[in-house]
Amino acid sequence: MIKPKFLFLLQIILFISITEMFSQTPPFLDPNLSPQDRLNDLLPRMTLDEKIGQMTQPDHAAIQNLNDVTTLFIGSILSGGSSDPSSGNSPLDWANLYDSFQTKAMQTRLQIPIIYGVDGVHGHSNVIGATIFPHNIGIGATRNPSLAKEIAKITAKEIAATGIDWTFAPCVAVPRNERWGRTYEGYGETPELAQMFGGVFVAGLQNDSLNSPTSIAGCAKHYMGDGGTTNGIDQGNTEVTEAELRAIHLPGYLEAIENNVLTVMSSYSSWNGQKMHGNHYLLTEVLKNELGFAGFVISDWAGIDQLPGDYHSDVVESINAGVDMIMVPNEYQTFITELKSAITNNEISMERIDDAVSRILLVKFQLGLFENPYSDRALLAEVGKIEHRNVARQAVRESLVLLKKNDNVLPLPKSGSKILVIGEHANNIGLQCGGWTVQWQGASGKVTEGTTILEGLQKVAASNEYVFSQNVNFTQTDADYAIVVIGEQPYAEMFGDRDNLELESAQINMIRKLKNMGIPIVTILISGRPMLINSVLHNSDVFVAAWLPGTEGDGIAEVLFGDFQPKGILPVSWAKSMSQIPINYGDTNYEPLFPYNFGINSLANSEVGSNPVLQSAIVTEDGIHVELSFNKSMVNSQNTNATFQLIKNGTTQVGVSSFVVSEANENVLVLALSERMSKGDVVTISYQSGNLKSADGGIVDFFSNFEIINFLNYIAGINILPGKVEAEHFSDMFGT
Ligand code: BGC
Ligand code: BGC
Repeated sequence: MIKPKFLFLLQIILFISITEMFSQTPPFLDPNLSPQDRLNDLLPRMTLDEKIGQMTQPDHAAIQNLNDVTTLFIGSILSGGSSDPSSGNSPLDWANLYDSFQTKAMQTRLQIPIIYGVDGVHGHSNVIGATIFPHNIGIGATRNPSLAKEIAKITAKEIAATGIDWTFAPCVAVPRNERWGRTYEGYGETPELAQMFGGVFVAGLQNDSLNSPTSIAGCAKHYMGDGGTTNGIDQGNTEVTEAELRAIHLPGYLEAIENNVLTVMSSYSSWNGQKMHGNHYLLTEVLKNELGFAGFVISDWAGIDQLPGDYHSDVVESINAGVDMIMVPNEYQTFITELKSAITNNEISMERIDDAVSRILLVKFQLGLFENPYSDRALLAEVGKIEHRNVARQAVRESLVLLKKNDNVLPLPKSGSKILVIGEHANNIGLQCGGWTVQWQGASGKVTEGTTILEGLQKVAASNEYVFSQNVNFTQTDADYAIVVIGEQPYAEMFGDRDNLELESAQINMIRKLKNMGIPIVTILISGRPMLINSVLHNSDVFVAAWLPGTEGDGIAEVLFGDFQPKGILPVSWAKSMSQIPINYGDTNYEPLFPYNFGINSLANSEVGSNPVLQSAIVTEDGIHVELSFNKSMVNSQNTNATFQLIKNGTTQVGVSSFVVSEANENVLVLALSERMSKGDVVTISYQSGNLKSADGGIVDFFSNFEIINFLNYIAGINILPGKVEAEHFSDMFGT
């Protein structure tokens, strides 16, 4: 028999341990336990509705009533390309937006935090004032993975500063056809580049330590084959064998997984006719089982809606295929209803649901979201800070690919020169940033803070005189140089596919006009992909592919003025004509204008006395002259026996009556033809004998069947023009 005294003690002990049991934080909230142990504790506590909520991702703008986050147990929110806070677009507005959703998640029974995602594809690019880096194609040109890692770290910092936990990046697409409007989102046309950058980018975002306050989750996208669609059609069909799919489109994912990427996004595209969102083999058998991807798969924006059948079957098919979280993004109540009925009808097993929810929760545990659900206002000052912009500027410098350089133009003098700066793109932050910048499709104008190309020139070499003109409406002909900035208008997915990558004719003509004035021309191309540049290249003394550099335009000036040598090399093959596209490194019959890996990596002049290099030839706009452009100054040959052979349309021989160094440009020899060429004529030239020389005594090598660009093809209307066109009249000719 127990003595009453003992009984009393026992009662006390029992009481204490029971209260302790209830007041103790549940194991899933214990940061000292492993994510797996925490999950093992949490999952069994969850109701079906709570599990479904974890798999649901609405866009923030679709949520009319914030309480839905609490009542529907919403597990994730995204902001799509143009979906910024309604209160404004400052970093603080974003932090407030984030916290408003998180507060609602914290009011749920289990207090499971939301994970919030954005498209930080070149910096925290939805936010005004964030540092915007070059788009991936430019990063590919740097071939500098440690720089890319630094960029990813900064991107993560700026995103985390606004509370946000996740970016839908890196895009490890391997764009195989420049018609595709998302070409710039990939690092380049080879799997090596996706591999070189995909992994380090993930490592940078996830910051080598997942639960640090400045690391966020990465997302390798779009799995798989998005860049391989037939004709480069966005969201199209990738028609390749499995071996080719794996060889070209998979390596980026292997590196991302190697670096513990927490999420993967499935692609809108199809593989041999089957939509990726429903592809069980590639999502589950390959990605999860074979490659051991342990994170979760997010669908693309309304991506499941594109599966055949009604919405109910879309939900069933995609989740059974292996999609874990659905970017709904609008009708989330409908999604929840359909998912619940699919589970109740046994169309989706509880095991599949538990697997999906486990994957999502493990990511949340790893990121430390349960411990730090809210934004840290102390980090707000990270957004757009100067140290970050300096790295972006370095990336701009290193991404520039110098495609052509005549002697004695670069580096430009830092003082005492009069420089015309021409073109809409020269002083326009929006154009130099491209798509996915503040707005989904990007926009022209002052969309955010940063340094335009013109401002960069003025900053780096303040002692020159700059005359800026949006177009060719200027009267100055006494300039020492012209820097002409041309390129594409911004675009993003769905709106960027092009059948014709020719430059706008106004840009082509503008450069020709300047050329006729005899001003040395430095052309900068702002574009998301290689464009057809033949005539512009011929008429430029320097040509730089600058891609979509982002907010730090002064990086361009730093190279032009010689503070840094050019470093970039092509991440893509540069085609001569649309008929060559698609063209990719490794193709048989590979004859691009510039090959993959090409780039001039020095500003130095050619060696004195070296043989002049024939860079291009063109039929001029009067149709009766051909210009040969060399890399250095030429002299009028005393030797009259130089013979050229011109062939028109494969058969007709065309006589050359004389040749002389151009008055407008000493690098150019002008040949007078015995008959007038017409638009559409295909002309080649051979140099068969003679003694053509450069001013420094170099001797031109013989060449044969060199393709001549027919400038008449660029001129609208008839080409019968009387003799040589004087520079002053050139604008009348084109009505500029
Ligand atoms: C794009 C994704 C993007 C998502 C969210 C989709 O339309 O394909 O790349 O992450 O939208 O904005
Ligand atoms: C989103 C995109 C999406 C598009 C579709 C945009 O706001 O950011 O990701 O594909 O809307 O309408």
